[in-house]
Amino acid sequence: MKEIDSTTIGNGREKVAIIGLGFVGLPLAVAFMRKGFPVIGIDMDERKIRAIGAGKSYIQDISDDEIERAVSEGDLFATTDYSVLSSADAIIVCVPTPLSNENAPDLTFLINVTRQLVPVIKLHQLVVIESSTYPGTTKEIVQPILEQSGLEIGRQLHLAYSPERVDPGNRSMQMNEIPKVVSGITERCLERVSALYERVFDRIVAVSSTDAAELTKLLENTYRLVNISFINEFARLCDALHINVWEVIQAAATKPYGYSPFYPGPGIGGHCIPVDPLYLQWKAEQKGASSRFIEIAHTVNESMPAYIVDRVQAHLPSNKPLTESRILVYGVTYKKDTADMRESMASPIIRLLLDQGAELRYHDPYIDAMQVNDGTKLNSVALTAEEIAGADCVLILVDHSVLPAEFILEHSKYIFDTRNIIKSVKTGAKLVKLGDGAKS
Ligand SMILES: NC(=O)c1ccc[n+]([C@@H]2O[C@H](COP(=O)([O-])OP(=O)(O)OC[C@H]3O[C@@H](n4cnc5c(N)ncnc54)[C@H](O)[C@@H]3O)[C@@H](O)[C@H]2O)c1
Repeated sequence: MKEIDSTTIGNGREKVAIIGLGFVGLPLAVAFMRKGFPVIGIDMDERKIRAIGAGKSYIQDISDDEIERAVSEGDLFATTDYSVLSSADAIIVCVPTPLSNENAPDLTFLINVTRQLVPVIKLHQLVVIESSTYPGTTKEIVQPILEQSGLEIGRQLHLAYSPERVDPGNRSMQMNEIPKVVSGITERCLERVSALYERVFDRIVAVSSTDAAELTKLLENTYRLVNISFINEFARLCDALHINVWEVIQAAATKPYGYSPFYPGPGIGGHCIPVDPLYLQWKAEQKGASSRFIEIAHTVNESMPAYIVDRVQAHLPSNKPLTESRILVYGVTYKKDTADMRESMASPIIRLLLDQGAELRYHDPYIDAMQVNDGTKLNSVALTAEEIAGADCVLILVDHSVLPAEFILEHSKYIFDTRNIIKSVKTGAKLVKLGDGAKS
């Protein structure tokens, strides 16, 4: 591998710097590189910087080859050192925006990055925030800090907001094919961000303010939280009515207008959908506005683990108590085909099962070891015929594409399927699905 540093990278071509090389930042870096931009990547996690330097990808959707080639050809330089930012034309910020213990926005990462930018930003640079956040953040939090540099926003420094729409695990769509919403603090800021992003994304959607762009992201994720929580509550209603929710959804989805299907599951996890609406709720509270849908959806979502555990128990063959049962959980990530466990409902579900005395084992092709909320450590077991046959229940929480449905069916005594991934059942095996209305 050639020795590259931030001064030689790009050979004078327009350079983009990305701060925060996680699930959003690294794919974004790759999208820019694929369009010919040299990229400087900054992360405070030295393991990530070392991995990139060694040509290794830690994000499933990106291959080692792509990183290795980019690093050795001088198109990607990763470091923890902010001083290299002086050579970048644009700086894009993709750091986490989690919740505090009180479920309020925690902007510590974003504020820290912005403060670290003040001594290093240069005349005419473009700063783009991509982290999901409540409306007002770019203007009210980021802008005043950047102005401490003495540079005037809109004239000497350009500040923009563009929400990220990456869909980890979805290989059917490249990032550049997803329309990109852009906004700027001033008209000139908007022109700058549009001109840059037009070179990478197939379609740019400009909105009139950073507030509108921030809220666009929150609308998208609140829409998903509310609709998925609604269909989860609807699935529970179907259980009570002894009507199969999956059949009802399939029939409703044939309506050619006015209906978009959402599907039940063990509860919504991940870094975005359960989190972002609470940013909006917090902002609504600040303004004395109502956000009842968010409140209800959040409450339904939080109640899903207990519901799943109740249903698993209610259908255990021969009314076996959980204290004498071994449960094999399939899938612990928050969604299919990713290695991301953040806010995954598997953790509270497993904790509840353990609390109720069940013997717990899990298998996930992407997660070798996990820690349950209470600190219990578990290692993924191999999905063998013996492992499946030894479980009183195989509890399917994630529909990874590699899930061997026929194999699980063949060897299990009882399957509780929260994703409707098992389509048929052979004589002898007991199959219960979330919302299928099965009587216990
Ligand atoms: N993951 C998704 O699917 C997704 C989708 C859309 C939007 N988002 C949003 O994008 C943002 C980033 O999410 P993510 O999933 O990529 O998070 P992540 O945790 O995977 O990555 C963030 C990275 O930022 C780094 N970081 C934190 N503080 C830093 C600092 N001061 N300097 C340098 N690096 C720093 C961390 O080490 C980490 O590598 C969040 O606001 C999230 O809500 C995420």
